[in-house]
Order: sequence, then structure tokens, then C-alpha cells
Amino acid sequence: MSSKPVCIAQISDLHIKRPGALAYGRVDTATALERCIATLNELAPAPDFVVISGDLADTPTAQEYEHLKRLLAPLRLPFASIPGNHDSREMLRAAFPESNYAQSSGPLNQRIEVSGLTLLLLDSSVPGKPHGQLEPPALEWLDAALASAPEKPALLFLHHPPFKAGIWHMDRQNLLNADELAPIIRRHSCVQLVATGHIHRAALTMFAGVPTTICPAPNHVVDLDLAQLREPSFKVEPPAFHLHTWFPGESFGSLVTHQVPIGQFDGPHPFFGPDRKLL
Ligand SMILES: [Fe+2]
Repeated sequence: MSSKPVCIAQISDLHIKRPGALAYGRVDTATALERCIATLNELAPAPDFVVISGDLADTPTAQEYEHLKRLLAPLRLPFASIPGNHDSREMLRAAFPESNYAQSSGPLNQRIEVSGLTLLLLDSSVPGKPHGQLEPPALEWLDAALASAPEKPALLFLHHPPFKAGIWHMDRQNLLNADELAPIIRRHSCVQLVATGHIHRAALTMFAGVPTTICPAPNHVVDLDLAQLREPSFKVEPPAFHLHTWFPGESFGSLVTHQVPIGQFDGPHPFFGPDRKLL
């Protein structure tokens, strides 16, 4: 068997409310996160790191971040987070003061080194607004970070997708200055992935020549309304998260993103076990 790849789990859009409250009056996001953490803790091999890509709280309030911290306490893996449009930079910074933020105030950009990978967490939140934007200092910081380690594969994480997913009411609140991010990515061949959230449902495209993903959520999803048939709506579909697996090698190695369903499922059963004659 080959050696273990480096595994970066990504979970997104937790939308934790105060204890006992349901998101949109229907979704128990706290229980959804507990199930997500149980699945993360049971993964073998254990992921090397977990990135939480925004919307950790819902309103947001300090009480929600306290609830979030209690719910995350059983997670047996190192993690870092970036804000989404439902978060408060200041409250998130206060909740996780030990994180390695690039700036001492304002945006919560972070650079994290994990076993030969560079993880760059970009704060695309705009205080008080649903859309995303990367401020000029964040873009300059990203450019410099990528230039400082051109030989290492880099994974970029931000909350807002830099592309239109085809869901009309979300497309107007994506990353509005994606055209300023694209040339930076194109300048640095070490960028292997752009990983986002915000829409709660898995999607994949190419952006600036790089595979670009949306991570599914542990709770509810934005309705896949590709023809503007309905008012903005959500559904409860099978929950999941992403596991980005990196196999080192020539030309930045190989990066493969797996979707992991959250929950308990039958198996694994050996294909060729002692009961194979019954098949
Ligand atoms: Fe969001």
C-alpha cells in the first residue's frame, strides 16, 4: 500500500444559533455540527488539518460563538476558520485568539503550513453585507505569500465563490472582485485549488486555470433553482464535507477532493471476505 496522503478536511457554513434555536425556524444546526464532528473524528486516517470556511455563527452574537466553541470542543483535530457573511470578524477573532492571523486587526487572513502544503485562508467577508470582496491589502498579502514559497503547493480557502454557480439569488452575492483575484492565481503556478463555501452544496468549476470547489454543509442546502422558478429557498439534503487529499510528487504532486457523507453507514465490508460464495 502507498503511504498516507496529506489530508485537509473542509467543513463549511455551520450557522450555529444560540442553544435551542433553529436556523430559519427549522434546521437544528447544532446537532448537524455534532454529527459532522463525529464523522470527522472517526475518519481513518485522521485528517492532518480542518478548515472551516465561513458562516460559523448565524446572526452573529457572542452567545452563538460560545455555543460554537462548546460544540467544537470534541473535535480531535487541529483547525482554523475564516469568516463568512454571517460572521463578525471581531467576535470570531475573540473566539479563537490563538489563531495565527496575518494582521492584528481587521481581516482574518491566515497562512498555515501543513506537511508540505501551504494553506492560505482569505477573509472575503464585507462587514454587514452578504457579498464577498477581497480588500487590496488581502490581495497584496496573498501575492506575497505565494511568491515566498513558489515550490510548495498552495490551497486557497475563502467563503465566497469567485464564480456564478447558476443560482440567481446567490450569484449576486458571490466574490464581487473575482477579476482581481484571478491574475494573482495565474501568476503563481503553485496554486492547486481554490476552495469555497457559502452555497452549502457541492460544486466544481475552473477559475483562473485552477480547480475551484464549493464545499457542502452539514445542515441545509440552498435550493438548486437553476431557472429562477422559486423565491430564495433551502432544502435539507444529505449532509457532507470535503476531504482534500494531496499525494506529493513531481509538478506539485496530485490533489484529489473527496466528498464525505456525514453519518453512520453500512460497511466497510471486504469485497472478497469469507462470505463471498454467497454472492
Ligand atoms: Fe455565506
